[in-house]
Amino acid sequence: THLYHFFFHIRSKSQVVHSTTPIMQQCPQGKGLETIEPLVRSVEETPDPIPTTITGTIPTWINGSLLRNGPGKFEFGKDSYTHWFDGMAMMHRFHICEGNVTYCSRFLRSDSFVTNSEKNRIVVSEFGTLALPDPCKNIFARFFSRFQIPKATDNASVNFVTYKGDYYVSTETNYMRRVDPQSLETKEKVDWSQYIAVNSATAHPHYDREGATYNMGNSYGKSFFYNILRVPPPEEKAAVEDSADLNGARVICSIRASEPRKPSYYHSFVMSENYIVFVEQPIKLDMLKLILYRIQGKSLNKVLTWDPQYDTIFHLVNRHTGKVVKYRAAPMFTLHQINAFEDNGLLVMDMCCGDDGEVIGNFTLENLRRGAGEEMDKFYNSMCRNLPRRYVLPLTVDEETPLDQNLVSLQNYKATAKKTKPGEVYMTHEELYDDELLQYGGLEFPQINYDQYNGRPYRYFYSCGFGHVFSDSLLKMDVHTKELKVWRYPGLYPSEPVFVASPNATQEDDGVVLSVIITPREEKSTFLLILDAKTFTELGRAVVPVNIPYGTHGVFNKMG
Ligand SMILES: *[C@@H]1O[C@H](CO)[C@@H](O)[C@H](O)[C@H]1NC(C)=O
Ligand SMILES: *[C@@H]1O[C@H](CO)[C@@H](O)[C@H](O)[C@H]1NC(C)=O
Ligand SMILES: *[C@@H]1O[C@H](CO)[C@@H](O)[C@H](O)[C@H]1NC(C)=O
Ligand SMILES: *[C@@H]1O[C@H](CO)[C@@H](O)[C@H](O)[C@H]1NC(C)=O
Ligand SMILES: *[C@@H]1O[C@H](CO)[C@@H](O)[C@H](O)[C@H]1NC(C)=O
Ligand SMILES: [Fe+2]
Repeated sequence: THLYHFFFHIRSKSQVVHSTTPIMQQCPQGKGLETIEPLVRSVEETPDPIPTTITGTIPTWINGSLLRNGPGKFEFGKDSYTHWFDGMAMMHRFHICEGNVTYCSRFLRSDSFVTNSEKNRIVVSEFGTLALPDPCKNIFARFFSRFQIPKATDNASVNFVTYKGDYYVSTETNYMRRVDPQSLETKEKVDWSQYIAVNSATAHPHYDREGATYNMGNSYGKSFFYNILRVPPPEEKAAVEDSADLNGARVICSIRASEPRKPSYYHSFVMSENYIVFVEQPIKLDMLKLILYRIQGKSLNKVLTWDPQYDTIFHLVNRHTGKVVKYRAAPMFTLHQINAFEDNGLLVMDMCCGDDGEVIGNFTLENLRRGAGEEMDKFYNSMCRNLPRRYVLPLTVDEETPLDQNLVSLQNYKATAKKTKPGEVYMTHEELYDDELLQYGGLEFPQINYDQYNGRPYRYFYSCGFGHVFSDSLLKMDVHTKELKVWRYPGLYPSEPVFVASPNATQEDDGVVLSVIITPREEKSTFLLILDAKTFTELGRAVVPVNIPYGTHGVFNKMG
């Protein structure tokens, strides 16, 4: 999310070497922002589907469920988490059928949820003890579990993903939880390292059109490697067995960390029809400090740093051969890619980026529960806003390629790429927005018509605008013209917009966009919003008579 970079304290180690226009100047400052405390309140689960009140019209062709994930419980007994993301994972299901919508929700029965519930307190783990008094201990637990620190979390609160046709909830550790997408029942815990030599996987896999799932994970032995994994499509005969199955998973490419003692944090990666791009960004983990601090039992929050002395390195991987080519660009950080596609020997990739990982707010519950006005403004204004940008990678660079010439030959791209010396290409990006976007505070949670357009030339993406600490608008961007369509009303906080294509779609934006709108000014009036994806106007809404907290990611499940 826009928020992940607040999940760890990134401290600047040196000045930003490549100066760029500071985002702070471009974005309007928050003024008199309202409180969003109700968005981070603990709620009860609603295990049995309840009806909703429909206004407008929900197209009858929509048949399936919007599944969403996010933190939903922040206290056990007298104990309270300090960090938003520490909240217990809650799964939400909005089932849409013949113009009707029902809602249900359940907490993920992770080991910690079960233990904490039984004891009615937050049971401090080995890792938590180690990290105390760091308020972000569990955030770090997630990342560090990649380095096999014991008791990695299985509170998978980030996303819903599918492998071989099964649903899982995921975070960034070696564990996932299989779940039933209809009943939201928690199934078994799955450990990646039981299947494949990696000890983590991101919460943002990609899918190809044959049904295979791709993801990335780390491995750490003599060297540190970032690995690209592939889990095959579900088997034809579908041995309707009710158990997790990652058999056939394999590593298709291992990329050695550019700085062996300072591997990078990553949240997602990019996939086009023939390539995967891994962005090695200058958010660095200091392995020596990690080991030292572990021995000394010190807080771990100083081992992850924004380190702009390093460039950003793009590793272009051929999905068929596993061959890797490197490109460089100025330091930046990114959490979510928008899309990538090939165009006449170029690979075009669009991402939500920031270029200053130093401007950091802290997503503690204390900050999020700040009162309205000056207090909240201060917090908002201390944060960096992410904006969409485009990089263009020339696919064939060899000994013959001349030095210092822009290799982005097509007129319609403003990004550049130059061979600076043998084996090295340096890129600059194109801003993928007009000034109009800045009044909405930048954007994150990008989504596209994934089934038809992921990895292919495309025109539209949908996202959340961040005029507040949590998103307060929905945006549709035309990447050809950079024009925006906007849905924004004071006091309404939309979730990540999910696109669902209509049955006879001929155009990219034939369909609807689904988003869950949180209403802190009004109790129990959360609603599922259905926008016409083409015009970005409201078709209908389904008001759910319960409070729902602000969440992370979601998917549409066509299977019910
Ligand atoms: C998650 O689970 C781990 C271990 O199961 C536990 O120590 C931790 O407190 C839980 N909570 C979070 C937010 O990580
Ligand atoms: C839709 O909901 C209404 C009100 O609950 C109900 O009367 C109607 O039968 C439902 N329609 C379908 C197709 O489920
Ligand atoms: C964020 O964390 C840093 C370091 O822990 C602290 O100095 C700063 O005051 C915090 N900022 C906010 C807005 O909480
Ligand atoms: C899609 O096309 C079929 C066949 O032409 C038609 O019966 C159906 O009503 C169409 N559906 C929609 C939503 O337009
Ligand atoms: C909705 O989709 C499910 C799963 O594909 C299917 O079984 C069901 O018949 C569909 N319902 C309608 C009304 O089309
Ligand atoms: Fe994410």
